Amino acid sequence: MFNNVTFFKGESFPLEMHKVRIVQKLSLIPVEERLRAIREAGFNTFLLKNRDVFLDMLTDSGVNAMSDRQLAAMMTADDSYAGSMSFDRLKTTASDIFNKEYVLPVHQGRAAENILAEAYVKPGNVVPMNYHFTTTKAHIGLRRGKVVELYNDSALRLQSEEPFKGNMDISRLEKLLAKEKGNIPFVRVEAGTNLIGGQPWSLSNLKETGKLCRAANIPLVLDASLLADNLYFIKTREDNEKDKSIREIIKSISDEIDIIYFSARKLGCARGGLILTNDPKVNEVLMGLVPLYEGFLTYGGMSVREIEAIAVGLEETLDFDMIRHGPEFINFMARELVNRGVPVVTPAGGLGCHLDAKRFLPQIPAEEFIAGALGAAVFIAGGVRGMERGTLSEERNEDGSEHICDVEMLRLALPRRVFTMSQVKYTVDRLQWLYENRDIVGGLKWIYEPKVLRFFNGRLNSVTDWPEKLAKKFRSDFGDSL
Ligand code: F0G
Repeated sequence: MFNNVTFFKGESFPLEMHKVRIVQKLSLIPVEERLRAIREAGFNTFLLKNRDVFLDMLTDSGVNAMSDRQLAAMMTADDSYAGSMSFDRLKTTASDIFNKEYVLPVHQGRAAENILAEAYVKPGNVVPMNYHFTTTKAHIGLRRGKVVELYNDSALRLQSEEPFKGNMDISRLEKLLAKEKGNIPFVRVEAGTNLIGGQPWSLSNLKETGKLCRAANIPLVLDASLLADNLYFIKTREDNEKDKSIREIIKSISDEIDIIYFSARKLGCARGGLILTNDPKVNEVLMGLVPLYEGFLTYGGMSVREIEAIAVGLEETLDFDMIRHGPEFINFMARELVNRGVPVVTPAGGLGCHLDAKRFLPQIPAEEFIAGALGAAVFIAGGVRGMERGTLSEERNEDGSEHICDVEMLRLALPRRVFTMSQVKYTVDRLQWLYENRDIVGGLKWIYEPKVLRFFNGRLNSVTDWPEKLAKKFRSDFGDSL
């Protein structure tokens, strides 16, 4: 049904349905150099220099592999401030795929969030959503609105069998819509829910959400940045949808949604963003803000080359071979780690493989940044750069105390079509080694803590000399090996 390839001897692993035609040389520096690099970066993986990184699993944002067709399209871009035919092409493609008439350009996902919040969020408003994303929450908070998350109990359970942890809790939504009547500018659903481990919602759950919003006459907004992964999970995990094409599933999703926006750094594998709607009034309001914040309506802060690449990238997202690659590699990586006893988020979601840092490093107190310490240790162990998704990524409480996160994860993103199977296997190997040596790893403490979005530029130190001990153990276990 999904054109699966099975193997003669019963092995099971995903197979790439593309070949590599342009490559970038990587280097893996020795463990002593990795130790120096992470110290210099203040134990913050955002501050590592890319030349010191072997496998960059920080994010999938803007770093998905592009196809030959995307690169070719970039060469034919129509460069003009107004009336670019490149934007016309993107508009036609996006409008056709998402079944929405109006298409507005923005320079990236958070720019769409800025415009939506500016247009609709007033002080004291409440914006219900399945889960927040950092930039979404910041833009709503800036307008003194409040995000209310209506996830199910299973959402924060890191190990579960629940296939749709990103689902909206329908009964909580129903109650909130009644309670906050007149105070809700829109409801937001996020595809491939990023901060809970790239977890999807089901189409049936979206339909129930849509029904409630229509009855309450409140617009439903979709953050489609991680839609590709969510589409894969709908097709493979939701019985009613498995015989539908990706195009049909997108159409069913779009039928429920009033405004779609996304980061084309993720969806479409280029760099940019779009906002789409069928409502002429909504279009008029948003259209007024695009030239103010982004640029003229035929580029919106994007380069015309990227605009061409997004158009082709969106078409390619309709190809199941393309959208299956990420989730199937992530699933493979998670499965191999589970088989070795390494704690990961299950079921595996999209975007990346998420390590369960609290179970990985139970000896570290929450105030010493468990997931942040794991990120530093993973870099020392293998030159692999992940992203902390835990207490470090939170803002402090109003009284100045640390806001301890319920969930401490290290995200190892697999940008689409970038890493090979052997690179994934290498990562699994180094993670297994680290897990077996986890007792060596200790916590982190601040040496410089910025007030806003501290995780980007903050610097930390190790609470003891555990990084040196870890590097020494690596050298004694691996000898001359990198
Ligand atoms: N929405 C979601 C669900 C995202 O994951 C992101 C970005 C944005 C909005 C903002 O888009 O970066 O183009 O402005 N996520 C990146 C990440 C940063 O690494 O997960 P943007």
